[in-house]
Amino acid sequence: MARRRVSLSYVQLAIAFFICFLFFYLYDKSFKNDDDRSSFEKFNNSTGAHRFIVPNIIHFIHYNKNSQLNFIDYVVLIAAMRNHQPDMFYYHTDIVDYKFSGKYWDWVKKDRSLWSRIQIKYLQVPTEIFGQKLNEEWRYFHGGDIGRIHVLMRYGGIYLDNDAYVIRSLHKYRKFECVLNWDENQFMGTQIIIAHKDARFLPLWLDSYRQYHPDEWYYNAGERPTVEILTKHPQLIHRVKGDFGADISVSMSLYDNPTFNWRHLDAIHLLVNHRVYMDDNYNKTPVFDENTILNYNYPFGEMIRELLDIHPPAINRS
Ligand SMILES: *[C@@H]1O[C@H](CO)[C@@H](O)[C@H](O)[C@H]1NC(C)=O
Ligand SMILES: *[C@@H]1O[C@H](CO)[C@@H](O)[C@H](O)[C@H]1NC(C)=O
Repeated sequence: MARRRVSLSYVQLAIAFFICFLFFYLYDKSFKNDDDRSSFEKFNNSTGAHRFIVPNIIHFIHYNKNSQLNFIDYVVLIAAMRNHQPDMFYYHTDIVDYKFSGKYWDWVKKDRSLWSRIQIKYLQVPTEIFGQKLNEEWRYFHGGDIGRIHVLMRYGGIYLDNDAYVIRSLHKYRKFECVLNWDENQFMGTQIIIAHKDARFLPLWLDSYRQYHPDEWYYNAGERPTVEILTKHPQLIHRVKGDFGADISVSMSLYDNPTFNWRHLDAIHLLVNHRVYMDDNYNKTPVFDENTILNYNYPFGEMIRELLDIHPPAINRS
């Protein structure tokens, strides 16, 4: 009896070892397939990995701002929380001693689940790139273009412009090495970038700044990487066409097309800071906030009222 029990446990032990071996072998293999920089060489940009490989962190860059949120920052944050639910929000700022202040941070603090996800990270504004001085006037813009590459190469995650509004969950894109919106016959968009920190495209993009054109707004951010890298190596990214709402006419529909349907998009670029010269009705509602949005009749009004669950006074509703 005793002998049989002993031999049985040897068999059990052997099986246990074998299972452990198999598990680690397979785990290691799948890990390498998905995560190793070298193995991205064979990465399939249309099918992606079998699991999430991009951390669920949303990054914002707040350069040249104070320690407050404005209304648009606030709705962009709430939309990303509500519609995507990241683990963390990293605000990268050039403020050394950041003090959360203002009404909208107070509102954020009241939501414990949201507040617990917020982190401030110091990020210096670049003044030069590969020895070339950044255009002084556009320092924060060109600096932010470079900053987002650095941030993604350091952490990986989901970079959002300060006016990139998330409509639907972006989790499906977290299975790819790098995801960008690149519409047909356009340059790539940089308002939303989802990337693994070792994505091959990122260092190539950064390196393309060795030829920096200070006088061109979008040369290094969009034109050069599209022409020099993506058209030659489209397998480096998972290409999104249209679903990130990067097209200017799509953005402007929020403010000028009453029947525009935004709900099928994953995100939309709000372009609020460009309404001043693009929106014929700009003067009627120059500033958006929780009051002016109540009676704003274009799709942006409906979108934000729905997000914040606020409604115009009954008397104004026909
Ligand atoms: C990616 O995977 C799909 C489906 O298996 C396949 O049809 C396609 O050829 C692959 N692409 C590359 C570049 O390997
Ligand atoms: C994947 O890469 C191929 C080139 O290898 C490209 O033609 C295709 O458009 C890419 N697919 C996606 C979804 O980006």
